[in-house]
Amino acid sequence: MSPPHSPQKSGNSGTTTSVFSDVAPGARRFGVVGWPLDYSLSPAMHNAAISFLGFNAAYRALRVSPDEWEGFAKNVDLDGFNVTIPYKEKVLALAQSLAGNVAVCRAANTLVRRSDGWEAHNTDGPGLLEDLRDHAMAWEGKSVVLLGAGGAARAALFALGPGARFITLVNRSLDRALGLAKEYEEAGGKGEVRVFQDIETSLRGADLLINATAVGLKAGDPSPVPERCLRQGLSLYDMIYHRETALVAAARATGARAVGGLGMLVNQGALGFELWFKDDLKKVKCDPRLLRKIMGDAARAALNKTS
Ligand SMILES: NC(=O)c1ccc[n+]([C@@H]2O[C@H](COP(=O)([O-])OP(=O)(O)OC[C@H]3O[C@@H](n4cnc5c(N)ncnc54)[C@H](OP(=O)(O)O)[C@@H]3O)[C@@H](O)[C@H]2O)c1
Repeated sequence: MSPPHSPQKSGNSGTTTSVFSDVAPGARRFGVVGWPLDYSLSPAMHNAAISFLGFNAAYRALRVSPDEWEGFAKNVDLDGFNVTIPYKEKVLALAQSLAGNVAVCRAANTLVRRSDGWEAHNTDGPGLLEDLRDHAMAWEGKSVVLLGAGGAARAALFALGPGARFITLVNRSLDRALGLAKEYEEAGGKGEVRVFQDIETSLRGADLLINATAVGLKAGDPSPVPERCLRQGLSLYDMIYHRETALVAAARATGARAVGGLGMLVNQGALGFELWFKDDLKKVKCDPRLLRKIMGDAARAALNKTS
């Protein structure tokens, strides 16, 4: 971990100055930092909640290239921020403390300013668990197949692993899945993790299938799972939230329960919002369900605008 980073605002990076130029002085400043960050629903979700609750704050998309990252990290002129691809692991170097399972998962998406420095959280995993619970999709004591071995799969593995009977990782690049399973084991992750290359074998007797690959992100993407592997009794959670994917459509056609990833996105955002605005939310007595509804409605409206 790097030496403590002063959480005090001092000067600012050029990146943040321009995107907050329309914001009144004194407003608290938040954002999502990523690259290329082509399109993010986070500003719509957070600004809708800020506006509904009447908080004096603003949330912006901050495109920070890998060349600009060091400069940005040296002097973060924000009250709190999210990070996305490619900074979820790199951002740990900024953190003075790691909350929840960040120390084992080694990836964060939410940074909270504390008096002694930045505190790193990962709300992706808890956001997924919350949405699985909301849809009565059980993972505790169940056999879970996790497709993918990137950042989203990592968050899911560390969140689901301790409760599941076992997790089977399946990924296009076998080495990456083997590496993730090894990291999980070395981090002392509870539960059994298997790695399979063959999706059909891995799904035999499985209870829950989670798609954490990027397949489905582009309109017209095929399903990453052959139709013959889908059946009633298998629950599917597809992290893609942009549309009903071919995988979700195929699963529903077999009578299987299938859910897209918008709820996870909304929950991870709401959990971050609750960390940043904890005291303010207490004052206005905001019901967590109402916060998720406001953020979810805003995310759906923003998605509809782009599709
Ligand atoms: N709902 C939510 O809140 C939420 C949160 C995070 C992410 N997501 C979604 O989850 C997806 C993955 O995100 P990430 O951050 O994990 O990305 P990432 O780190 O880039 O990982 C991408 C994963 O997708 C696999 N993949 C990509 N193209 C593929 C293809 N054509 N065939 C088979 N596998 C393919 C990769 O396999 P290889 O290892 O073989 O390259 C890897 O496992 C994205 O679509 C993102 O939108 C949703």
